Amino acid sequence: MLVKDKIALITGAARGIGKAIAESFAIEGAKGIIIVDINLEEAQKTANQISDYYSCKCIALKANVADEDDVKSVFSTVANEFSTWDIMVNNAGICRMVSLDDLTMDAWDQTMNINLKGTYLFCREAFKLMQENNSGKIINMASQAGKIGGIMVGADYSASKAGILCLTKTFAKKAASYSINVNSVAPGLIGTDMTKDFGYENQSIPLGRVGTAEDVAGAVLFLASKYSDYITGACIDVNGGMTMW
Ligand code: NAI
Repeated sequence: MLVKDKIALITGAARGIGKAIAESFAIEGAKGIIIVDINLEEAQKTANQISDYYSCKCIALKANVADEDDVKSVFSTVANEFSTWDIMVNNAGICRMVSLDDLTMDAWDQTMNINLKGTYLFCREAFKLMQENNSGKIINMASQAGKIGGIMVGADYSASKAGILCLTKTFAKKAASYSINVNSVAPGLIGTDMTKDFGYENQSIPLGRVGTAEDVAGAVLFLASKYSDYITGACIDVNGGMTMW
């Protein structure tokens, strides 16, 4: 049981990778899971499924991760519902396929606000609470695009994910003296709604297949568990060998 009796908040967990992370936490003994998503209907469905199948209190909260007031209100609800606080997974994100020439400034701002500012806001608020307990795990969802630049995705997306890699290290340095680990995961191509129109040759992935949401959840679980206690400011690639560092 990797996260036995832990309480975890996961953004963007109504579907896709976030949902797989929530399910894997429930399987591995989490006592409470808070699903935060802009799509409350789908988030509630996922929370109900998890509460029905596992002995875990799973609640859904509607919030736009880019909205500071929404973020603050999530944390006050969490404080009322749960007495302790252990794991924060910043997973919510958007991605569009757009060329450098076609990228509008509205699109740039929206991606930066959701992917980067949203991650910052949740790191900041989670850190404040975890600091009081001198323990905690924060895991941020980066991307291979944030390391090598976008191939199919826009410059807005890859720049936002590169920002997450650096944000993770900055928080890791700040949080280390409180025994709080802050790490990131950089998935390659994962089969979800986000990537359904991408089209990709499996042959260019050494492990010969597109990844699954569960592949990513495994790395997140490790970073949320005690087995990663001496790892901070790091990034785990989950990419089938697509890039090797
Ligand atoms: P998805 O599109 O299936 O799920 C994203 C979730 O985030 C949805 O439930 C959506 O409602 C929620 N969301 C979007 N904007 C939001 C906002 N403003 N506030 C709150 N929730 C919001 O995407 P997927 O594939 O599950 O991706 C999850 C994370 O993994 C994202 O950060 C993505 O950038 C990252 N990632 C995904 C890869 C892939 O190949 N699918 C590869 C690398 C990184």
